Amino acid sequence: MPSNYNNSAWFYDRLSRAVYGRALINAQVYLLQYIPQGANILIVGGGTGWILEELTKIHPSGLTITYVEIAADMMALSKKRNTGENEVVFINEAIENVSLQSVFNVVITPFLFDNFTEQTLQTVFNHIHGLLEPGGIWLNTDFQITGKWWQNVLLKSMFLFFRILCHIEASRLPDVETHFNQHQYKSIASQTFFSAFIISKVYRK
Ligand SMILES: C[S@@+](CC[C@H](N)C(=O)[O-])C[C@H]1O[C@@H](n2cnc3c(N)ncnc32)[C@H](O)[C@@H]1O
Repeated sequence: MPSNYNNSAWFYDRLSRAVYGRALINAQVYLLQYIPQGANILIVGGGTGWILEELTKIHPSGLTITYVEIAADMMALSKKRNTGENEVVFINEAIENVSLQSVFNVVITPFLFDNFTEQTLQTVFNHIHGLLEPGGIWLNTDFQITGKWWQNVLLKSMFLFFRILCHIEASRLPDVETHFNQHQYKSIASQTFFSAFIISKVYRK
Protein backbone atom coordinates (compact mmCIF):
# COMPACT_ATOMS: atom_id res chain seq x y z
CA MET A 1 0.00 0.00 0.00
CA PRO A 2 1.52 3.40 -0.92
CA SER A 3 2.02 5.92 1.87
CA ASN A 4 -0.77 8.36 2.46
CA TYR A 5 -0.13 11.55 4.38
CA ASN A 6 -3.79 12.62 4.07
CA ASN A 7 -4.50 11.39 7.58
CA SER A 8 -1.85 13.66 9.03
CA ALA A 9 -2.39 16.80 6.93
CA TRP A 10 -4.44 18.67 9.53
CA PHE A 11 -1.92 18.26 12.37
CA TYR A 12 1.38 17.56 10.57
CA ASP A 13 2.89 21.05 10.94
CA ARG A 14 1.78 21.42 14.57
CA LEU A 15 3.24 18.03 15.48
CA SER A 16 6.54 18.62 13.72
CA ARG A 17 6.86 22.01 15.41
CA ALA A 18 6.07 20.50 18.82
CA VAL A 19 8.86 17.93 18.38
CA TYR A 20 11.46 19.89 16.41
CA GLY A 21 10.65 23.55 17.04
CA ARG A 22 11.76 25.55 14.00
CA ALA A 23 14.47 23.06 12.97
CA LEU A 24 12.55 21.55 10.04
CA ILE A 25 11.74 25.04 8.78
CA ASN A 26 15.28 26.39 9.27
CA ALA A 27 16.72 23.34 7.48
CA GLN A 28 14.62 24.10 4.40
CA VAL A 29 14.89 27.90 4.50
CA TYR A 30 18.70 27.51 4.61
CA LEU A 31 18.52 25.84 1.17
CA LEU A 32 16.43 28.54 -0.47
CA GLN A 33 19.35 31.02 -0.69
CA TYR A 34 20.78 28.79 -3.46
CA ILE A 35 17.84 29.41 -5.77
CA PRO A 36 18.71 31.88 -8.53
CA GLN A 37 16.41 34.65 -9.71
CA GLY A 38 13.89 33.49 -12.32
CA ALA A 39 14.50 29.78 -11.64
CA ASN A 40 12.32 26.96 -12.91
CA ILE A 41 11.82 24.86 -9.77
CA LEU A 42 10.42 21.40 -9.04
CA ILE A 43 9.26 20.82 -5.43
CA VAL A 44 8.45 17.21 -4.55
CA GLY A 45 6.60 16.30 -1.33
CA GLY A 46 6.12 19.83 -0.08
CA GLY A 47 3.52 18.71 2.50
CA THR A 48 1.21 21.52 3.61
CA GLY A 49 3.05 23.93 1.32
CA TRP A 50 4.52 26.39 3.83
CA ILE A 51 7.76 26.25 1.83
CA LEU A 52 5.95 28.12 -0.96
CA GLU A 53 5.44 31.09 1.36
CA GLU A 54 9.06 31.03 2.53
CA LEU A 55 10.14 30.92 -1.12
CA THR A 56 7.86 33.84 -1.93
CA LYS A 57 9.38 35.93 0.89
CA ILE A 58 12.75 35.64 -0.89
CA HIS A 59 11.44 35.68 -4.48
CA PRO A 60 8.07 37.50 -4.61
CA SER A 61 8.03 37.08 -8.40
CA GLY A 62 9.82 35.60 -11.37
CA LEU A 63 9.84 31.94 -10.34
CA THR A 64 8.16 29.12 -12.21
CA ILE A 65 7.30 26.38 -9.72
CA THR A 66 6.00 22.88 -10.33
CA TYR A 67 4.69 21.52 -7.04
CA VAL A 68 4.15 17.76 -6.96
CA GLU A 69 2.50 16.28 -3.86
CA ILE A 70 0.82 12.88 -3.66
CA ALA A 71 -1.54 13.51 -0.71
CA ALA A 72 -4.73 15.32 -1.75
CA ASP A 73 -5.27 16.87 1.70
CA MET A 74 -1.71 18.20 1.76
CA MET A 75 -2.24 19.57 -1.74
CA ALA A 76 -5.47 21.33 -0.74
CA LEU A 77 -3.60 23.18 2.04
CA SER A 78 -0.71 23.98 -0.31
CA LYS A 79 -3.00 25.59 -2.85
CA LYS A 80 -4.10 28.16 -0.25
CA ARG A 81 -0.56 29.47 0.20
CA ASN A 82 0.53 32.94 -0.83
CA THR A 83 2.81 32.52 -3.83
CA GLY A 84 3.01 36.19 -4.81
CA GLU A 85 3.57 36.81 -8.50
CA ASN A 86 5.27 33.47 -9.02
CA GLU A 87 3.77 30.99 -11.41
CA VAL A 88 2.84 27.71 -9.70
CA VAL A 89 1.57 24.50 -11.29
CA PHE A 90 0.14 22.05 -8.73
CA ILE A 91 0.21 18.34 -9.58
CA ASN A 92 -1.53 15.98 -7.16
CA GLU A 93 0.27 12.76 -8.10
CA ALA A 94 3.24 10.60 -7.16
CA ILE A 95 6.30 12.16 -8.80
CA GLU A 96 7.36 8.85 -10.36
CA ASN A 97 4.06 8.79 -12.30
CA VAL A 98 4.34 12.33 -13.62
CA SER A 99 5.80 12.91 -17.06
CA LEU A 100 6.93 16.50 -17.44
CA GLN A 101 8.12 18.12 -20.62
CA SER A 102 10.35 20.74 -19.03
CA VAL A 103 13.67 20.27 -17.32
CA PHE A 104 14.29 22.23 -14.15
CA ASN A 105 17.15 24.45 -12.89
CA VAL A 106 16.38 23.50 -9.28
CA VAL A 107 14.70 20.56 -7.55
CA ILE A 108 13.76 20.47 -3.87
CA THR A 109 13.14 17.22 -1.97
CA PRO A 110 12.36 18.15 1.65
CA PHE A 111 12.02 15.12 3.94
CA LEU A 112 10.80 13.06 1.00
CA PHE A 113 13.20 10.11 0.84
CA ASP A 114 12.97 9.08 4.50
CA ASN A 115 9.59 7.56 3.58
CA PHE A 116 11.00 5.15 1.07
CA THR A 117 12.49 1.69 0.84
CA GLU A 118 15.73 1.42 -1.17
CA GLN A 119 13.72 0.20 -4.15
CA THR A 120 11.29 3.13 -4.17
CA LEU A 121 14.16 5.53 -3.56
CA GLN A 122 15.93 4.27 -6.67
CA THR A 123 12.83 4.71 -8.86
CA VAL A 124 12.00 8.16 -7.50
CA PHE A 125 15.62 9.36 -7.45
CA ASN A 126 16.22 8.33 -11.08
CA HIS A 127 13.00 9.98 -12.17
CA ILE A 128 13.84 13.30 -10.50
CA HIS A 129 17.44 13.08 -11.74
CA GLY A 130 16.11 12.93 -15.31
CA LEU A 131 14.12 16.13 -14.73
CA LEU A 132 17.08 18.25 -13.60
CA GLU A 133 19.16 19.99 -16.24
CA PRO A 134 22.95 19.40 -16.31
CA GLY A 135 24.51 21.96 -13.96
CA GLY A 136 21.18 22.24 -12.11
CA ILE A 137 20.89 22.43 -8.32
CA TRP A 138 19.31 19.72 -6.16
CA LEU A 139 18.32 20.85 -2.65
CA ASN A 140 17.78 17.93 -0.30
CA THR A 141 17.09 17.85 3.40
CA ASP A 142 16.44 14.84 5.60
CA PHE A 143 17.24 13.06 8.83
CA GLN A 144 20.57 11.36 9.40
CA ILE A 145 22.00 9.19 12.16
CA THR A 146 25.29 10.47 13.56
CA GLY A 147 25.58 8.06 16.47
CA LYS A 148 23.61 9.78 19.21
CA TRP A 149 21.35 7.29 21.01
CA TRP A 150 18.27 9.53 21.02
CA GLN A 151 18.35 9.91 17.21
CA ASN A 152 17.53 6.20 16.78
CA VAL A 153 14.78 6.39 19.38
CA LEU A 154 13.21 9.43 17.71
CA LEU A 155 13.55 7.95 14.23
CA LYS A 156 12.03 4.60 15.21
CA SER A 157 9.13 6.39 16.93
CA MET A 158 8.48 8.45 13.79
CA PHE A 159 8.55 5.39 11.53
CA LEU A 160 6.15 3.55 13.82
CA PHE A 161 3.78 6.50 14.14
CA PHE A 162 3.66 7.21 10.40
CA ARG A 163 3.50 3.51 9.51
CA ILE A 164 0.33 3.09 11.58
CA LEU A 165 -1.25 6.36 10.52
CA CYS A 166 0.00 6.94 6.97
CA HIS A 167 1.17 3.46 5.90
CA ILE A 168 4.71 4.59 5.10
CA GLU A 169 6.83 1.68 3.89
CA ALA A 170 10.21 2.53 5.41
CA SER A 171 11.59 1.20 8.67
CA ARG A 172 15.06 2.68 8.32
CA LEU A 173 16.62 5.58 6.46
CA PRO A 174 17.51 4.70 2.86
CA ASP A 175 21.02 5.48 1.60
CA VAL A 176 20.41 8.63 -0.42
CA GLU A 177 24.06 9.73 -0.57
CA THR A 178 25.01 6.67 -2.64
CA HIS A 179 22.58 7.75 -5.35
CA PHE A 180 24.00 11.29 -5.49
CA ASN A 181 27.51 9.77 -5.71
CA GLN A 182 26.55 7.24 -8.39
CA HIS A 183 25.20 10.05 -10.56
CA GLN A 184 28.31 12.15 -9.90
CA TYR A 185 26.60 15.02 -8.15
CA LYS A 186 28.95 17.53 -6.54
CA SER A 187 28.08 18.55 -2.99
CA ILE A 188 28.59 22.32 -2.89
CA ALA A 189 27.22 23.27 0.54
CA SER A 190 25.63 21.70 3.58
CA GLN A 191 24.46 22.48 7.10
CA THR A 192 23.15 20.37 9.97
CA PHE A 193 20.31 21.17 12.36
CA PHE A 194 18.83 19.75 15.59
CA SER A 195 22.16 18.45 16.93
CA ALA A 196 23.04 17.07 13.46
CA PHE A 197 19.93 14.85 13.26
CA ILE A 198 18.91 16.87 10.19
CA ILE A 199 21.15 17.60 7.23
CA SER A 200 20.47 20.03 4.38
CA LYS A 201 22.64 19.62 1.33
CA VAL A 202 23.12 21.48 -1.92
CA TYR A 203 24.19 19.36 -4.90
CA ARG A 204 25.14 20.36 -8.41
CA LYS A 205 24.41 17.94 -11.25
C1 LIG B 1 7.59 13.59 5.61
S1 LIG B 1 6.46 14.53 4.64
C2 LIG B 1 7.35 16.09 4.52
C3 LIG B 1 6.48 17.26 4.17
C4 LIG B 1 7.18 18.61 4.02
N1 LIG B 1 8.26 18.56 3.05
C5 LIG B 1 7.66 19.14 5.34
O1 LIG B 1 8.89 19.16 5.57
O2 LIG B 1 6.84 19.57 6.17
C6 LIG B 1 6.64 13.82 3.03
C7 LIG B 1 5.68 14.37 2.00
O3 LIG B 1 5.98 13.78 0.75
C8 LIG B 1 4.77 13.38 0.10
N2 LIG B 1 5.13 12.26 -0.81
C9 LIG B 1 5.47 11.00 -0.44
N3 LIG B 1 5.74 10.26 -1.52
C10 LIG B 1 5.58 11.06 -2.60
C11 LIG B 1 5.72 10.87 -4.01
N4 LIG B 1 6.09 9.69 -4.50
N5 LIG B 1 5.47 11.91 -4.85
C12 LIG B 1 5.09 13.12 -4.33
N6 LIG B 1 4.94 13.37 -3.02
C13 LIG B 1 5.19 12.35 -2.15
C14 LIG B 1 3.85 13.00 1.25
O4 LIG B 1 2.48 13.05 0.90
C15 LIG B 1 4.22 14.06 2.29
O5 LIG B 1 3.44 15.24 2.18
